[in-house]
Amino acid sequence: MAGRGIGQIFARKTVEQIQSEYGASELKRTLGALNLVLLGIGCIIGAGIFVRTGSAAALHAGPAVILSFVIAGVICALAGLCYAELASALPVSGSAYTYSYTTLGEGAAWLMGALLLLEYGLAASVVAVGWAGYVVSLLADFGIVIPATLTAPFGHAVPLPDGTTTNAIMNLPAALIVLALTVLLIVGVSESAKFNNIIVAIKVTTILAVILVGGFYVLSNFATASQNWVPFIPENEGPGKFGLEGVARAASIVFFAYIGFEAVSTAGQEAKNPKRDLPIGIIGSLVICTVLYMLVAWVLTMMVDYRQLNVPDPVAVAVNALGPEWSIFAKIVKVGAITGLTSVILVLMYGQTRIFYTMARDGLLPKPFSKVHAKFKTPWINTLVVGVIVAFAAAIFDINTLGDLTSVGTLAAFAVVCLTVMFLRKTQPNLPRGFKVPLYPVLPVLGIVSCIWLISTVEARVLMFFAWFMAGSVVVYFAYGMWNSNLAKGVVVRGHEPGPQEFETPDPKNPQG
Ligand code: ALA
Repeated sequence: MAGRGIGQIFARKTVEQIQSEYGASELKRTLGALNLVLLGIGCIIGAGIFVRTGSAAALHAGPAVILSFVIAGVICALAGLCYAELASALPVSGSAYTYSYTTLGEGAAWLMGALLLLEYGLAASVVAVGWAGYVVSLLADFGIVIPATLTAPFGHAVPLPDGTTTNAIMNLPAALIVLALTVLLIVGVSESAKFNNIIVAIKVTTILAVILVGGFYVLSNFATASQNWVPFIPENEGPGKFGLEGVARAASIVFFAYIGFEAVSTAGQEAKNPKRDLPIGIIGSLVICTVLYMLVAWVLTMMVDYRQLNVPDPVAVAVNALGPEWSIFAKIVKVGAITGLTSVILVLMYGQTRIFYTMARDGLLPKPFSKVHAKFKTPWINTLVVGVIVAFAAAIFDINTLGDLTSVGTLAAFAVVCLTVMFLRKTQPNLPRGFKVPLYPVLPVLGIVSCIWLISTVEARVLMFFAWFMAGSVVVYFAYGMWNSNLAKGVVVRGHEPGPQEFETPDPKNPQG
């Protein structure tokens, strides 16, 4: 039982241990600052801007959603600086889960794993629902109408052609895209920098086209368009509905639009010059996206009354305001959005499977999660489980609840990352750090406080669900994780990517190893 007392919660992996497990030093340093910025943008731009901006403006902030983007962007930058420091101090591939395991200990790593399930798995469901919104809208443009009962969350009232309403069964297109991408992930779609660059080009071109065409329309009709900005911050109508409180609430919603920038930090081992390029990659992609997002928010809220934006395809609604002669442009924008959203679902699901994979190799999840397919060399059981969970959530739940829960989980993960920086500075002050958060400790403390503040603006119902989810994950740790932890058993599993692995059990007296 040694090592499995309550102290196991604080058991830590050493930096040398994770380096040897991940074979970190073997990765080639090929990524420059520009590649890292593009990597960040590739993960960032998705349902946040294409979908969630609409309800944030229509229900919470009005035109002032532009300020919500600034607030969320600044909070992400604070966390981003902390990610950059950790990535340069703990030079391993992997995510915040690994950082926690090496610093705060196994209990924190487990909780981080639970938070990352919200940040990656649930976020994939959100983007899938957003994807379905644009696909249904595009199909309708071509006269193909999917029954409303199959395009909305379970139990939601949807209108029928005869004017009556009925309850929806599920969001079928959202579930189908997830299942299709699950198959792709199982057979092994390899992510390449080149592919990523093409997708980034499509996404950014789509967004720039909306900004340019929309901006031109707004400027040419400024007298009417500017009326949509009166009032800029609509008067408060209740908790989280407009007023300054609504702007803060909308910030927690559009925060979703920034999730993904931390993927840059996971490429620390492949950066040519991590000290310089990691912060550039993280902050650069955040700044570019913040500017793009503010411009899109400006165009959308000027082109149409913000109250019209509470739809699954708000960007398309704004483009429709250009008039029927722009219908081809509207279709192109939808195709661009659908392409971009597809890649984000894929990246998020990929990330989720690799987190489960790492946790299973640490013994914290059952072994099948790290079982690699003989032919495809991918963690197929794990991918199948992730695919089914993501598809189920996308089919059944509404995008606002899913999105809020993702934001809360990610904000909590960011707060832990800021805390981890402070912990590591205290416990290992001499550890070489390629990059250090400036104005220490002010910025990490601000990061923690602002994440907690933004969490507090989310609906109580969602926070309650989050609390239950985290409580459940603690129970599972005590029931399963701590008893099967390889760290507790002294088992070392080598090998980095899914593929042939080498298992080593230094303690022969331990039969479970
Ligand atoms: N930031 C990503 C998106 O908006 C998750 O889809």
